[in-house]
Amino acid sequence: MGRVTGKRVVITGGASGMGRATAELFAREGARVAVLDAQAEPGEAVAAAIRDAGGDARFFRADVSVERSVGDAVDGAAEAFGGLDVLVNCAGIIGVDKPTHEVSEAEWDAVFAVDVKGVFFATKASVPHFLTAGGGAIVNFSSIYGLIGNDEFTPYHVAKGAVNMQTKQDAASYGRHGIRVNAVNPSTVLTPLVEGIARDFPGGLPAYEEQMTGHQSLRRLGRPLDVAYAVLFLASDEADWITGVVLPVDGGYTAR
Ligand SMILES: NC(=O)c1ccc[n+]([C@@H]2O[C@H](COP(=O)([O-])OP(=O)(O)OC[C@H]3O[C@@H](n4cnc5c(N)ncnc54)[C@H](O)[C@@H]3O)[C@@H](O)[C@H]2O)c1
Repeated sequence: MGRVTGKRVVITGGASGMGRATAELFAREGARVAVLDAQAEPGEAVAAAIRDAGGDARFFRADVSVERSVGDAVDGAAEAFGGLDVLVNCAGIIGVDKPTHEVSEAEWDAVFAVDVKGVFFATKASVPHFLTAGGGAIVNFSSIYGLIGNDEFTPYHVAKGAVNMQTKQDAASYGRHGIRVNAVNPSTVLTPLVEGIARDFPGGLPAYEEQMTGHQSLRRLGRPLDVAYAVLFLASDEADWITGVVLPVDGGYTAR
């Protein structure tokens, strides 16, 4: 028996990185997984790999920043599975690395469209299905950058701060309907999003890892599965009395 056996799950951003790791882990633990992503080819490949391994997965192409697009995909997944139990909001972009006074309105809007409105739209589309099912669980991908400031990626910091509050607000609003809402807040995890940044860093990945983990208690970069296991727990019935939590999954970064 898996830890999420039979649960019907939508994972946005499931084509890559932590979304992919989460989709694969959930499928191994018995869930029926809808991989939602803007990228069709890698998204189809993730769903196919899960099916090849004996799991149950389908791909739905969607742009989470477009309400109709993500709404149609969520409804399509619910129709295919006969309902919905879990939403994982993982799709995200990091945006420009600039301080506030250098960020253009378009650069600000681009990050908020995906990282903030994407969570809002997918949640809005999923809640009616959870109400029909009599409950549900949402896990939002935030970041330690939504908990602390530093001197980089300003719009991303502010957007992830908004995701933390969306998490608490929805937990407060929907608890009486049996819908739990939590967030994971990773520090730096080695995914395609970060590999690109590390490649351009003077000294490459080793120098980047040294720099990024200098303030962490556990001095290694995160792996996608480190975070996927936290998402699995929060989405599962094991966390039945946990809601409104923004959980650092950060090697102890925010403990110091
Ligand atoms: N990697 C890290 O170090 C790190 C740390 C903290 C938080 N996060 C957050 O974790 C999440 C996953 O990050 P990752 O590193 O695995 O990223 P990734 O770039 O590997 O994957 C992100 C996925 O989201 C999809 N996506 C982007 N915009 C989309 C849109 N408009 N509609 C639908 N899909 C879209 C991409 O196609 C991609 O498949 C993000 O929300 C990110 O902000 C990442």
